[in-house]
Amino acid sequence: VRLAVLVSGNGTNLQAVIDRIASGGINATIACVISNRRDAFALKRAEKHNIPAIIHESSAYANRREYDAVLVDMLRDHGVALVVLAGFMRILTDVMVTAFPHAIMNIHPALLPAFPGLHAQKQALDYGVRFTGCTVHFVDGGTDTGPILLQAVVPVLEDDTEEKLAARIQHEEHRIYPEAIHLFCAGKFSVDGRRVRLSP
Ligand code: GRF
Repeated sequence: VRLAVLVSGNGTNLQAVIDRIASGGINATIACVISNRRDAFALKRAEKHNIPAIIHESSAYANRREYDAVLVDMLRDHGVALVVLAGFMRILTDVMVTAFPHAIMNIHPALLPAFPGLHAQKQALDYGVRFTGCTVHFVDGGTDTGPILLQAVVPVLEDDTEEKLAARIQHEEHRIYPEAIHLFCAGKFSVDGRRVRLSP
């Protein structure tokens, strides 16, 4: 399966996927890494592993749909079957979502449907939940609303700060995101309305 990983920042999830592919744990190749920011450290990670990296900045486009139309062309040119959002800080329009139905994944640092959107770790701390975590889901037209693939739970501790909680969540992200990609590439997921069935 040919993957594209879309990034905007550090790219620790990209690294987790690269490492899991290298160890033979996913039957896939990363066809390209695409960043909307030229200063994303994730681009350096791609370069280091000889993965084609593309900078796709939004400034040249009149609106988000035009940006997404060019993105779809790039993904098609690279023969991409699964789009992996890994800290990509842009909301996708219907142009992308309809081009890749049930073939775009995102990871969100909370147990959806709790705390969608930005600053999910702070939202969890402020709300006072005892447990939070992360969610891998398919991307649909909403913000963090698509069918859920995998989740992992972490405790919120007495002396937690946003940073400490974020680090605990990221540790789980780096485990379940490669796992979800592996399961997708092995054809294990089937979508039934909101529910995603996982075959043995
Ligand atoms: C992760 O915390 C993820 O949950 C959120 O963006 C962050 C990306 O981190 N969607 P990284 O760039 O993979 O290190």
